[in-house]
Amino acid sequence: MRSRHRTRLVLAPVALLLLLPALPAAAQDRAATLEQGQQLAFDRSKGNCLACHVIEGGESPGNVGPPLMMMQARYPDKSELRAQIWDAHEKNPDSIMPPYGRTYLLQESEIDKVTEFIWSL
Ligand code: HEC
Repeated sequence: MRSRHRTRLVLAPVALLLLLPALPAAAQDRAATLEQGQQLAFDRSKGNCLACHVIEGGESPGNVGPPLMMMQARYPDKSELRAQIWDAHEKNPDSIMPPYGRTYLLQESEIDKVTEFIWSL
């Protein structure tokens, strides 16, 4: 019993040390994903979301669609936000928002990144 307890005591800091380098790496990955998502969203030849939406940090936005802000409050379920970006016509058949996934305007991996960025707003 006693030696097992001691082993745990020794292993806990070791486990912590092993985990530590992974934390900044994950944070860096997330920052890179958000940046790429923003680029894709703002790029006039890619997402071009600014043509219709006000987005923090974006220049000369249009206002055809609602401003994209407080997205986690509006979309607690991230997959619903992704579905909206993938094909807005599912919710609103008359939508003028381009169906990015259905028409391959953005690749699936690009939609993932844009979704992460928009969800962070
Ligand atoms: C041509 C205009 C247009 C473009 C470009 C556009 N949208 Fe939209 N979007 C709309 C409109 C209009 C709505 C309002 C709902 C509807 O009519 O479908 C909307 C709704 C949304 C919503 C739902 C907002 C809410 O409050 O529920 C999200 C999220 C969204 N757009 C994200 C994007 C993203 C991300 C891009 C770029 C990849 C984009 N939109 C590009 C017109 C556009």
